Amino acid sequence: MTDQEAPTARLFGRDAELRALEAFSARAGREGAVLLLSGEAGVGKSVLLDAVVAGAQAAGTRVIRATGVQFEADVSYAVLNQLLLPLAAGFAHLGEEERNALMVALGLLSGRVPDRTVIATACLDVLRHEAEQRPLLLVVDDLPWIDRPTTIVLEHLAHHLSGSRIGLLTASRTGEDSYFDAGGLPALHVEPVDDGAADELLRTAFPEMALRVRRRILTEARGNPLALLELAEALDPTQLSAREALPEVLPLTEAIEALFASRIKQLPEPTRDALLLAALEGSGDLGLLRRTATADGGTTALVPAETAKLIEIDEAAGRVVFRHPLVRSAVVESSTNVERRRVHRRLADFFTRDTERRAWHLAESAVEPDEAVAALLEEAARRKLHRGDAGGAIASLTRAAHLSPRAADRGRRLAEAAYLGADVTGELGTASRLLDQARSFDPSLGGSLHAAAAAAFILVNGDGIVDTAHRLVVSAIENGDHGYDAANTDLTDALYTLLLICWWAGREEFWAPLFDAIDRLVPEPPEIILLMSKAFPDTARATAGTRRRLAALIDRQSTETDPASLVRVNTSAVYMDLLGGCRAGAWRLIMSGRAGGTVRSSLACLMHLCLDDFATGRWEEGQRLADEGLALAKTHGYDFISYYFLFHEALLAAVRGEDTVMHQWADELTRVTTQRRAYGAARFAHHARTLGAIGRGDFEAAFHHACDLSPAGTLAPYTPHALWVALDLVEAALRTNRREQAEAHVRAMCEAALWDVSPRLGMLTLAARALVASDAEAPGLFEEAIGGPGARDWPFDYARVRLLYGERLRRARAPIEARLHLNAALEIFEGLGAAPWTARTVTELRAAGQAQPNPAVPAAAAAGLTAQETEIALLAAEGLTNKQIGERLLLSPRTVGSHLYRIFPKLGITSRAALRDALSR
Ligand SMILES: Nc1ncnc2c1ncn2[C@@H]1O[C@H](COP(=O)(O)OP(=O)(O)OP(=O)(O)O)[C@@H](O)[C@H]1O
Ligand SMILES: [Mg+2]
Repeated sequence: MTDQEAPTARLFGRDAELRALEAFSARAGREGAVLLLSGEAGVGKSVLLDAVVAGAQAAGTRVIRATGVQFEADVSYAVLNQLLLPLAAGFAHLGEEERNALMVALGLLSGRVPDRTVIATACLDVLRHEAEQRPLLLVVDDLPWIDRPTTIVLEHLAHHLSGSRIGLLTASRTGEDSYFDAGGLPALHVEPVDDGAADELLRTAFPEMALRVRRRILTEARGNPLALLELAEALDPTQLSAREALPEVLPLTEAIEALFASRIKQLPEPTRDALLLAALEGSGDLGLLRRTATADGGTTALVPAETAKLIEIDEAAGRVVFRHPLVRSAVVESSTNVERRRVHRRLADFFTRDTERRAWHLAESAVEPDEAVAALLEEAARRKLHRGDAGGAIASLTRAAHLSPRAADRGRRLAEAAYLGADVTGELGTASRLLDQARSFDPSLGGSLHAAAAAAFILVNGDGIVDTAHRLVVSAIENGDHGYDAANTDLTDALYTLLLICWWAGREEFWAPLFDAIDRLVPEPPEIILLMSKAFPDTARATAGTRRRLAALIDRQSTETDPASLVRVNTSAVYMDLLGGCRAGAWRLIMSGRAGGTVRSSLACLMHLCLDDFATGRWEEGQRLADEGLALAKTHGYDFISYYFLFHEALLAAVRGEDTVMHQWADELTRVTTQRRAYGAARFAHHARTLGAIGRGDFEAAFHHACDLSPAGTLAPYTPHALWVALDLVEAALRTNRREQAEAHVRAMCEAALWDVSPRLGMLTLAARALVASDAEAPGLFEEAIGGPGARDWPFDYARVRLLYGERLRRARAPIEARLHLNAALEIFEGLGAAPWTARTVTELRAAGQAQPNPAVPAAAAAGLTAQETEIALLAAEGLTNKQIGERLLLSPRTVGSHLYRIFPKLGITSRAALRDALSR
């Protein structure tokens, strides 16, 4: 706004905001700061920015300004260009890689696809270098309308300004969707001005206005300065009536736009045409407008618009400026389709050499498919890709597909867009664009399956919801001409993607189309698809036969090299606890990912290893892999997929007793998943919360969190994760006097025959049965649980069962036996770093009469005794006979004897009598 003579140059009612902004400016100049202004249209954000700019410049700060423009051609890094070009001299100070990346991004150089983080870092370096001379302030108005790649760079900047003397100040109109993630950044919401200020503003701007009219305007404008001024401006009789025709409830933005529209309608035809040209062109370059204007050749046609105070023509600067962004949108809104297309066509003809702009305008002007336009868009997509804007490239390709007259080209372009998104970015513009894409699927396209599967994946990792992704893939499958041929890999790929989507969605009704399609496969479904569909979605209802077949398949895949097959088999293994056999293959893919291989399969393998690490007690490694996965997902824009790693971060924090941290991760997981309506994925958070609550002894909360996964007494269909908290639920129910629910849940576990699904679940089921069993029956069940094959392979679960057993024994007044189990549990908990369980076990041991944690355990460990040898030694030291020990540990007395035979020399003793002393050394 450079309207010098206007009385509005003075700001009314903004003392508080100006003070806050002044403080921001000062702080930014000292130590770096960011501030995001927001507020409704016309409330005065841009004029506040003007004020800050003036103040900062007066104080010696260098200010660089840029503005997002609605309707402008979607050109990657267009705004970054505006911001950085004034500082181009500083590029010389960058390292070669950074400089090249930045120059490629800004379109100054052609070259290798720059990495986004490199661009962001380079950009920050340039700014920092400049700020060494004097403070620097970046001001970005209308943030929601800037191109996405620039948004990403700005987001990065916003988080890295501290200690730099750089300020970043942005303004966004509320209600406009923005790619910018404002999460956690300092913000200032600009409210309408108060009645006093509004009145003063009106009286200053329109001193002649009658009191009655002023009151009316004050009421209608509700403190919005633009509304105040525009309603007053409209005060000739005809326009006044237009205003009165406005319904009371019209939102202010629309009301103001309507006011502008009514003024635009009264302009002569050539003026409106010239205005539309300016609005759709975007840059406001007068020279350009002159060259593209119609017959009379000048911008003279614009003059009436200036008289009507809709624009300002600045001949000296060679620019035309819309008085307000709403004027621009009113101009576009009040034009017809045909008029808009004509103007775009003219602009396209003008931008003969600028492929991206030309392609954009041509696409906007196209009424029907046109191969020339589609080809140009495809070329524009290549350029975008070249600059590292894969998201933009996908958008252009999608557009190109729409405009392709031939089905084959359409399929090819869609598939390429989808491929790019899935393998390069993991993100795609907006859901609506994808919906467009879905609509464009031609049932006769073979390639569309691939495209749909990949696009769905992209969609979910971008800002889409799983419902859309589901619809996309289901309709591609149902309309495809694949004849349900089981050998068609496009089809099986799509089925796998659909399985994941159903899983993420976590809603029963999503599964039917998948099972239908699998049933229809001819001659018969491939083994892996079949097994996956049985082992994974609803493990509680899987069978021992499925487990056997899957285990055999895992054995066979030791030589498998196809990442997709590996990942699918591993996925099937998750809830059957068969991941152990998949580790080698998973590591291979992770290593190849680290060396630059495909990110997507690497992510999948990282999460499979995390899962196995947790269950098998490799928590340190699990932590490192979760951190790696999270970072990898973040760098590559797999925003949604990151939830797996958020889950592990939360889970590990829970079992280590870091409650606050657990909640932060779990909340983040909830946010990432529920915003995409991925309720199945969201459930993972309940697992961490359940364990966290048990850890801090809050069994009431634990019960509710576990029930959030599946209510007591049921193993909810398609919710295998509920199996992992089933024992927790039973424990929490008993602790909170919900015996009936506990028993009902145990019944559900038994009815599901979970031992068939996995020995680990078998152990947990036995332990759960023991918990609700009588004192007479409980020990037998506990013994069976901990004596099962491979029970110790799941140390955390195993130790928890022994803790539960010990607790039970102590209450049954068998302190000696109780201590045996508690000490065994303690050793494992300590080794794992499961702090809350360690503490609980120590307390329990004290209650069982052991003053200190049994000193025998460290002594035995130091002497190199195995866990089982330690147990035997302890029991023998307590005075039990070999027979008694054998009964307790399900060993023959002879085996106990031979253990002792090996134990004595390790402890440096020769007799049973010396055991107690040796163990307490
Ligand atoms: N406090 C104020 N005192 C006087 N005039 C003001 C005040 N605030 C805004 N104005 C005037 O109101 C009009 C709209 O302000 P501005 O363009 O800053 O709004 P905005 O919040 O940036 O809106 P948008 O979201 O549409 O960009 C301008 O003409 C401006 O001069
Ligand atoms: Mg503004």
